[in-house]
Order: sequence, then C-alpha cells, then structure tokens
Amino acid sequence: MRIVLVGPPGAGKGTQATRLAEKLSIPHISTGDLFRANISRQTELGKLAKSYMDAGNLVPDEVTIAMAKDRMEQPDAENGFLLDGFPRNVSQAEALDELLRTEGIQLDAVLDLEAPEDEVVKRIAGRRVCRKDSAHVFHVTYGAPKQEGVCDVCGGELYQRDDDSEGTVRKRLEVYHTQTEPIIDYYKAQGLVVTISAMGAVGEVTGRALEALKRED
Ligand code: AP5
Ligand code: ZN
Repeated sequence: MRIVLVGPPGAGKGTQATRLAEKLSIPHISTGDLFRANISRQTELGKLAKSYMDAGNLVPDEVTIAMAKDRMEQPDAENGFLLDGFPRNVSQAEALDELLRTEGIQLDAVLDLEAPEDEVVKRIAGRRVCRKDSAHVFHVTYGAPKQEGVCDVCGGELYQRDDDSEGTVRKRLEVYHTQTEPIIDYYKAQGLVVTISAMGAVGEVTGRALEALKRED
C-alpha cells in the first residue's frame, strides 16, 4: 500500500506510523525524522533544516522534495510506503503526484488523524524522543519508558525536542492550518481521504486506522 498520513503536530502520526508500517510491512518515511537524523549528523542539510524547524516553519520545498524523493526511491519502498509529514503543502502534494505519475503508481489512501488542539498541546508537552533515533517516541504520562530518561528500544537518552517549546508549537499549529490543511481538500478531490479520530489509547487508534484502510484496499 502507498499511504500518506496527515494530521496536526502531536496528533500521533509518528506513533501510529511506526505501528502501521510494521503491520502492513511497508517502510515508514518521516521527513521530520530524516531532518532530525541530518541534524544529529551535522550535515549541511541538517544545519539548514534546523533553522526552519526551530522557528516552527516549513523547510523549503526544494530540499524537502529532493530528500523525500531520494528516500522513496530506495529499494525497500518499491512496493509501498507510509509517508509521515510529507507532503505538507499543496506544492509538495503536486510534486508527489508528478513523481508517482512518472513511476506509474498511485496512492491508495490519505489517512487524516483528527485531534483537538488542547489534546495535541498536552501530547507535545509531555513528549520525549530518543537522541539516537527520533522515531523512538515516549510520553511522560501516556507512554512512559520503563526507566525514566532512557529509550526502551535502544537505550538512548530521551530529550525534549527543540521545536516542542510552547511558542514554537503555537507557530507549528498555525502553519498546519494555513499550509498543510489545504492538502486534505486537494486529496478529497482525488477521493483518497479517510478521516479517523486520533483520540483514545494508542492501540485503539491503530485498530481504527487499520479498519479504515481495509475499506480502502
Ligand atoms: P515533524 O517531525 O513531522 O513534526 P509534526 O508534524 O509537527 O508532528 P510531530 O512529530 O510533532 O507529532 P506526531 O503527530 O508525529 O505525534 P507523535 O506520534 O510524536 O516535523 C517537524 C518539523 O520538520 C516541521 O515543523 C518542519 O519544520 C520540518 N518538516 C518536516 N516535514 C516537512 C515537510 N514535508 N516540508 C517542510 N518541512 C518539514 O505523538 C506526540 C506525543 O503524544 C508523543 O509523546 C506520544 O507518545 C503521545 N501519543 C501519541 N499517541 C497518543 C495517544 N493515542 N494517546 C496519548 N498519547 C499519545
Ligand atoms: Zn532509541
């Protein structure tokens, strides 16, 4: 399957993407994680991305699209993928359509995770991520690691993301409403959007997502 995951910051896209990718045997491709991996390796791309991410703004389309394209062309993505955080505006959605058209493939669904603003703010405030791999995500109360400050998966140190400060979260939410939400209408016009509630326990949301995707299969 080829799936795009969309939803506000903190809705649980990364959490659900990890679980869905495993269940559906497709790679989880997160542009946020790819940028964070570049930041920790201190690459030129990482340095550029960090300045935009810390301000809560989108990284410019040109570099984002090139990075996403490169990742989607890796052999493990040949038979499907789950995109998390890409596309994030209409021009990225158009670029993705163009890429898929060139390859002669199509998206199966755009899974839209809905969560109210007060909930996503709470989820972000308590989020802790792993220094070694930002796809290892925890929450101080909703999903605490066995040992405080230590990643259950790899033993890495847990920290609070630089862009999870209150002011930056407010900016990211604004950017989501103005720039990312319009892609939902863009994909509705293609009949691809499946909306589910992101409320409830992590496992419940995964079950809901799998049910909704089955109907689209
Ligand atoms: P990105 O990393 O994509 O961040 P985001 O979209 O803001 O989403 P988050 O990672 O904040 O949240 P999430 O929905 O994945 O939630 P999570 O599962 O962690 O992007 C960061 C930045 O990179 C952007 O601002 C931009 O600058 C740049 N960028 C990335 N892609 C780009 C693009 N395409 N173009 C341009 N720039 C781009 O969950 C949140 C917390 O809640 C966790 O602690 C989790 O444990 C907890 N939780 C999850 N589910 C539940 C539940 N059901 N109940 C209780 N707690 C839960
Ligand atoms: Zn880890």
